[in-house]
Amino acid sequence: AVTRTFSIIKPDATRRNLTGAVTKALEDAGLRVVASKRIHMTREQAEGFYAVHKERPFFGDLVAFMTSGPVVVQVLEGEDAVKRNRDIMGATNPADAAEGTIRKSFAESIEANSVHGSDSDENAAIEIAFFFKPEEIVG
Ligand code: CMP
Repeated sequence: AVTRTFSIIKPDATRRNLTGAVTKALEDAGLRVVASKRIHMTREQAEGFYAVHKERPFFGDLVAFMTSGPVVVQVLEGEDAVKRNRDIMGATNPADAAEGTIRKSFAESIEANSVHGSDSDENAAIEIAFFFKPEEIVG
């Protein structure tokens, strides 16, 4: 089925001017960008978005990193979008990511790993609603 997922192009990627390269990889994988905006996340936004990781030892560093520069938040649409996006992103740790994936090509580290993608349809809906109003999504 055609579904939607939520993506973030992270500060390590925007800093290296890779917004286009990352977006091209997503498009080449069969995903369509149906919403996109460049923002500088506030600490409150980053803490709220990553609330499920609050107890993890890397939480403070993660929030600091995600607020260290601009990000591009996107809604992606396509056949089985969550899985398709996870496949093209590659493993969280670029050291484990398969050849040809975004993280293998571009990520600097497990933290500065260039992209975020939703891990389920349920979380995709929550994450999309966190950053976008319905009228900002144009399918
Ligand atoms: P993301 O998909 O955005 O969700 C949580 C993020 O935490 C993850 O990608 C990583 O970039 C970041 N992170 C930093 N350190 C770790 C770690 N040790 N294990 C898992 N994720 C980590």
